[in-house]
Amino acid sequence: MTLGSYYQFKENKESAFVVEATKIKFGKGTIHEIGEDARALGMKRIAVYTDPTVRHLEPLENVKKALKKSGIDLEIYDQVAVEPTDRSFQEGTRFAKEGNFDGFVSLGGGSVIDTCKASNLYSTYPDDFLSYVNAPIGQAKPIPGKLKPHIACPTTFGTASECTGIAIFDFLERHVKTGIVGSALKPALGILDPLNLKTLPPLVIAANGFDVFSHACESYTARPYTERDFPENSAKRPLGQGANPYSDIACINAIRIMGEHLVTTVLENDYEEGFENLMFAGMLAGIGFGNAGCHLPHGMSYAVSGCVKDYVAEGWPSNNPLVPHGISVIVNSPSVFRLTGTACPERHLMAAEAVGADISGVEKEEGGNLLADHIIGMMKKTNIPNGLKEVGYRESDLDRLTESSFPQKRLIDNAPLPIDQDQLKQLFKGALEYW
Ligand SMILES: [Fe+2]
Repeated sequence: MTLGSYYQFKENKESAFVVEATKIKFGKGTIHEIGEDARALGMKRIAVYTDPTVRHLEPLENVKKALKKSGIDLEIYDQVAVEPTDRSFQEGTRFAKEGNFDGFVSLGGGSVIDTCKASNLYSTYPDDFLSYVNAPIGQAKPIPGKLKPHIACPTTFGTASECTGIAIFDFLERHVKTGIVGSALKPALGILDPLNLKTLPPLVIAANGFDVFSHACESYTARPYTERDFPENSAKRPLGQGANPYSDIACINAIRIMGEHLVTTVLENDYEEGFENLMFAGMLAGIGFGNAGCHLPHGMSYAVSGCVKDYVAEGWPSNNPLVPHGISVIVNSPSVFRLTGTACPERHLMAAEAVGADISGVEKEEGGNLLADHIIGMMKKTNIPNGLKEVGYRESDLDRLTESSFPQKRLIDNAPLPIDQDQLKQLFKGALEYW
């Protein structure tokens, strides 16, 4: 069987890919069905996790009303931190332990969903905090069994936390981002109601949108799964398997939808069709990167957000210095795609065409540059910072950014070509300024 020229089966190399799927309910107004969904999962007493902002918004009222209508008892935890830490995970866990709940609902962005996952885990199987945390920081102990049912309801789009068994947090003592990974952490159901996005400020839409767009482009141009060594045993297949035919279908469609709707949704207030499309694209890209894995723009983004000096995003719902995730990713993407375009030019050309670039008369070798140019055009139209300089970095920061991102081996090795430390520095250099 042939799955396309990108996938060449070779001796001692991988020949299988795994599809991890999550149950998703998608559509306008689906949040009103959460009471019935919770009952179907056997929930009678629920902890509803949210954050201090979403606490006052309409989606929470809708959740409360629907749960009460189905006769479900609930308590609200609204103290989720925007960037969760080991401390905030433990505070969330305390609430879960004291409340004697039989199920969980999370309503918010990735931080809320991740805090709910961790609270479900530590209240169900109490252990030392570091026991379940990824090695080498923690002991990476496998989760002992099933957790209580959790319904995740995103009020942003793009993190795809509702689709994954991953919970990310900042480990305060060591100033690093790490996480807990295990398929038991996966929510039982994700409810994606596009009307939940109506209150997002334009910069949040733009940042989330570019995060989704980069998830899709990175997964589509990732190293093919057939290039990995055949695993010692089936359990050793990584979550980020590399590009594969299943994630390709999701990613190329997510890229197309983003090309059609991202800029208009950011610029126009109340563009309901846009919210629906962006949330759907976020779901597709989530399926894509959940199965394929991202590569360099995400690997570099952790350094861009982690080394932040004094950049404050105008219009962001926080006044602390931070580079919002989607921005810390997309500032790297054009620089990266100019290089990775040399490894698999036709994939970059197809991505450029999907996002709306005119490819007539373009040589396939130009695919990476064309994709990069188109992204830069979209960044300009949506007021995204002009590269690393505009989020506070200078030439003198390049070594620090490089050293801090080079250890992201899982992501860097998922690129379609091998990258050494010097090349990584050149990629950061290329990302300093675009226009
Ligand atoms: Fe991301």
